[in-house]
Amino acid sequence: MAYLWTKLFHVLFVIAWMATVFYLPRFLVNLAEVGDQPAVRDRLALMGKRLYRFGHVMFGIAFALGLALWFHFGIVGPWLHAKLTVVLLVLAHFIITGRWLKRAAAGGKLPSPTTLRWFNEIPLLLAIAILWLVYFKPF
Ligand code: HEM
Repeated sequence: MAYLWTKLFHVLFVIAWMATVFYLPRFLVNLAEVGDQPAVRDRLALMGKRLYRFGHVMFGIAFALGLALWFHFGIVGPWLHAKLTVVLLVLAHFIITGRWLKRAAAGGKLPSPTTLRWFNEIPLLLAIAILWLVYFKPF
């Protein structure tokens, strides 16, 4: 019972974090296309910064609950280590997005909108890998 509640909230906070991971690069695309409109740029940068902070909190809780599933409820296997490796890649993507947001907020240059659109697709592939590992537990 406690295991299922822990898992339910783990998935809930994972959803909230992944929503951030999927949406934050959209701010970068908009920032890269904003041109000479400082007021719009500042507003997008502020919204991005707040969403980035929110994402950190959601990740922190999802992570803590994931650790509880692992160490308290003893759900573990090679699939979990593989999953955590992919989670690290998602986290790296998230942090790179945050750095680019800060750079854009300071008026720095961003990669092209096309590059950013491709960058935006990476977490989708990583999320499929994570879900495959969790549900198929292939090893
Ligand atoms: C941050 C560190 C994380 C740890 C330590 C962790 C660990 C775990 C563990 C031990 C389970 C239990 C699996 C089971 O009962 O079969 C689980 C479930 C799950 N995890 Fe994570 N997880 C983490 C992050 C994530 C992330 C980032 C995602 C998705 C992007 C994710 C998606 C899921 C899903 C969907 C389930 C539920 C599987 C089911 O319905 O049975 N987890 N996690």
